[in-house]
Amino acid sequence: MSDTVSFTLENGVALIVLDNPPVNALGHALRAPLFAALEKARDDEAVEAVVIACAGRTFIAGADISEFGKPPLEPSLPDLIALLESIDKPTVAAIHGTALGGGFELALGCHYRVAEKSAKVGLPEVNLGLIPGAGGTVRLPRLIGPEAALGMIVSGKPIGMEKALALGAVDRLAEGDLRAEAIAFAREKVAQGGPYPHIRERAEKLAVDLDAFDAAVAEATKKARGLTAPLKVAEAVRNAITMPFDDALARERDIFIERRDSTESAAQRHLFFATREATKVAGVGRDVEPRPIRKAGVIGAGTMGGGIAMALANGGISVIVLEMNEEALARGLGQVEKIYSGSVTRGSISAAEKEARLSRISGTTDYAALADCDIVIEAVFEEMGVKRQVFSALDRVMKPGAVLASNTSYLDLNEIAATTERPQDVVGLHFFSPAHVMRLLEIVRGERTAADVLATALALARAIGKVPVVVGVCNGFVGNRMLAARRDENEDLLLSGATPEQVDKVFTDFGWPMGPFQMVDLAGLDISWKHRQSLGLSAPIADTLCEAGRFGQKAGRGFYLYEDGSRAPKPDPFVTELIERKAAELGIERRAVGAEEITERTLYPMINEGARIIEEGIAARASDIDVVWVNGYGFPVAKGGPMFWAERHGIDRIVDRLEHWHGVTGKEVFKPAPLLRQLALTGGGFSSLA
Ligand code: 3HC
Ligand code: NAI
Repeated sequence: MSDTVSFTLENGVALIVLDNPPVNALGHALRAPLFAALEKARDDEAVEAVVIACAGRTFIAGADISEFGKPPLEPSLPDLIALLESIDKPTVAAIHGTALGGGFELALGCHYRVAEKSAKVGLPEVNLGLIPGAGGTVRLPRLIGPEAALGMIVSGKPIGMEKALALGAVDRLAEGDLRAEAIAFAREKVAQGGPYPHIRERAEKLAVDLDAFDAAVAEATKKARGLTAPLKVAEAVRNAITMPFDDALARERDIFIERRDSTESAAQRHLFFATREATKVAGVGRDVEPRPIRKAGVIGAGTMGGGIAMALANGGISVIVLEMNEEALARGLGQVEKIYSGSVTRGSISAAEKEARLSRISGTTDYAALADCDIVIEAVFEEMGVKRQVFSALDRVMKPGAVLASNTSYLDLNEIAATTERPQDVVGLHFFSPAHVMRLLEIVRGERTAADVLATALALARAIGKVPVVVGVCNGFVGNRMLAARRDENEDLLLSGATPEQVDKVFTDFGWPMGPFQMVDLAGLDISWKHRQSLGLSAPIADTLCEAGRFGQKAGRGFYLYEDGSRAPKPDPFVTELIERKAAELGIERRAVGAEEITERTLYPMINEGARIIEEGIAARASDIDVVWVNGYGFPVAKGGPMFWAERHGIDRIVDRLEHWHGVTGKEVFKPAPLLRQLALTGGGFSSLA
């Protein structure tokens, strides 16, 4: 019929096969010929039943996301499904891989669904700031019940076939050849005879108690994190219960279009593509083979070493952890055991799963035990001397071809690599704390790092469920370097007249999980105090808090007070007085500081630093920076990352205010980066740079 859709008639069954690599996204190139094929199947009297299947690695993975934001082309996906529902011969979706979003919705427009056992079905639109827009919120509740549908659509998580079969989302699992069995199933239905009710005609599961449903909505949406889409999903599923089918469908479409045109969805779609773009690395083509990773070593069993060992073990890789002595090793592995026990208590993993993961982690104090590891990740103290010692030792014992990685936060990876005879095998793998939870992995490319070592790091990230971004060598790489720029003004804002709670509120209003002062209280003020001391720097307020033993939450007091072990920050008059005293000592007259000024003095320098990072080639593209900040530092997803936000906010406006603050303070963090100036002049966005 066309390049993307084929139509064959076998024994009275029309087999329609879609082929639009890589994931059969339902773009116009697929919708138009599919529409024609369905019309033919409807009208041809020789056709007794219809099977829709896909070529390639998966059934339809959804609408084509790249078409959103462009003028819509007919036929729309709802048109296709309406046509499907006008066919009174049995229609069967034959599902393999993942039937997602509009793909699953198309399958819900069929009478029946036959699937491979390894298949998954789901409606992940919420992850793109959307709700399903082709009947998913209306048909799925009728098929599996409103509460089960709500759970699936609000979470966006696909389900496996065991669950799908139990819920009634699929009708049969294929034992062997999917297409042959789907055709056989269709023939069975023809033999049984009609009528064949469509999901739209099935209302028995909608008879639920609305109060109980509303309680389920409250539970399902409590982690919506300020996002609108999960709430809108709940509204649409509720409509499916309370409204006639066609009204609920029309309302779903309206909400879908409103969401599709929202900034929130544009931001999340940007992040979807940015995350995939970040894995495309200059000089590391698809032909570069990663080195196999079966066994890993981790040096240091502290906060990060333990977390990295768990991240690897959770991904099925065996790990051997090396510490300085037995005592430190026992402490570190004990901590790992404790964290897994906590997960069992909370019910996030089973006791058997805990044992399986623990069985992949062993310990040693002898470098010789690491010799056969395919990769070793160093997470010892952040001191160049210690790192050099460790890498020299690794160079002596590791098998040829092993990847030598460092988790350093700030140090010069090229200097670390130079202590070995194999700098091409050295790479930075900068995990974020807690390493078994946080998804970001900054992969630091040294000047000598080999292409296949980068490919190995990317493959490892994928294997253990991390989101990788390749960055260049500089102090703090992408994330910590921008964080430092954001932090620069914290104390000065207080001295100018702001309070910690005022600054933090600007951040939480923006959508961050917490503000900078709540963050240092959580991390511990002593850590940055030590860091400042090592660099010969001072911060009048934070230093004084540390001298008074106010190390943050763990001490019950820092920039805030934490009463009786509570984690809720309470403003503390002690801090207010301290700020006033320090300002007086420095001859600063405190004044009212507004929210806008706080944003200008914290977020704008961060954007400025981001622009410098692009200029220097530390990040390959602006969207990589967005991926770093959303996955590693809690930048609100709904705003798409700092660079995406900056572009919408107005680069010229940012440059203008940076210039103002540069004039007032003379500080380097405010001096507009040449790239930012250029974009402000040309009116181009970061995306215009590619
Ligand atoms: N539209 C456009 N492109 C898509 C796409 C989609 N729905 N899904 C995947 N792609 C692209 C990716 O961008 C990537 O392109 P690239 O190779 O140029 O970078 C390529 O397909 C392969 O994708 P992945 O790298 O993600 O491949 P994986 O094998 O790791 O994962 C997948 C496959 C599980 C299908 C994953 O791609 C995925 O989750 N896709 C999105 C699914 C989704 O969100 N569907 C809902 C869309 S919205 C919708 O349907 C609205 C409707 O209700 C009206
Ligand atoms: P930590 O102090 O908790 O742990 C370091 C561990 O290394 C200790 O258990 C120590 O006994 C061990 N160690 C020290 N020298 C050793 C040696 N020569 N051989 C074997 N073991 C040795 O430190 P943390 O926080 O885990 O940091 C480790 C590294 O990770 C540092 O480079 C740090 O910059 C980096 N990092 C830390 C993050 C954090 O949030 N804590 C985040 C990302 C990176």
